[in-house]
Amino acid sequence: MLKLKSVFAAALVLGTATFALAESQDPDVQNRQAAMKTVGANTKTLGEMVQGKTAFDAAAAQLAFATIAGKAGEVPVLFEAEVTDPESDAADEIWMMWDEFVAKAGALKTAAEAGSGVDSPEALGAAFGNLNEACKACHTQFKL
Ligand code: HEC
Repeated sequence: MLKLKSVFAAALVLGTATFALAESQDPDVQNRQAAMKTVGANTKTLGEMVQGKTAFDAAAAQLAFATIAGKAGEVPVLFEAEVTDPESDAADEIWMMWDEFVAKAGALKTAAEAGSGVDSPEALGAAFGNLNEACKACHTQFKL
C-alpha cells in the first residue's frame, strides 16, 4: 500500500513538472502571453472571414479589430518588466531597443484601429493585410 502511494505521488509530481515545462510560472510572462493569445485568437477570427471560411460579419470583424487595438495598447505595460524565462519567446532586444518595440506596438494599434470600422469584405481584406504586416514586423525583430 505504501509503495502504491509513493508511485501515485511520483506521478503527481511528474504531472506538475510536465505542466511547468509547457507554461511559464511567472505572472508577467503569463499576462503578456495571454494578451498575445487573445490577439492571435481575434486575428484567426478575421483570417477565417478573409478566407471565406466564415461569412463576412461587419460587427464581429469590428469587434475583433477593436479587441486587438486594446491589447496592442497594453503591450508597453505588459512587457515593461524585463523578465526572461525559458518558456518565453520574448527576445532580449525588447529591452535593448525599447523605443522601437513600443513603436511596433503602436503600429499594431494603428493598424487594428484602422480596421475597427470595416463595412465590406474588401475593406476587411485590406485592413487584415496591414494588420498582419504589423504582427510580422514585431515578431521578426522581437520574438524568438
Ligand atoms: C510589439 C511587438 C508585437 C506585435 C506587434 C505582435 N506581437 Fe505577438 N508576440 C510578441 C512577443 C514578444 C511574443 C512572445 C511573448 C512571450 O513568449 O513572452 C509574442 C507572442 C505571440 C503569440 C504566442 C503567445 C503564446 O505564448 O502562446 C501569438 C499567438 C502572437 N504573438 C500573435 C500575434 C499576432 C496575431 C499579432 C498581430 C495581430 C501580433 N502577435 C503582434 C510581440 C508582438
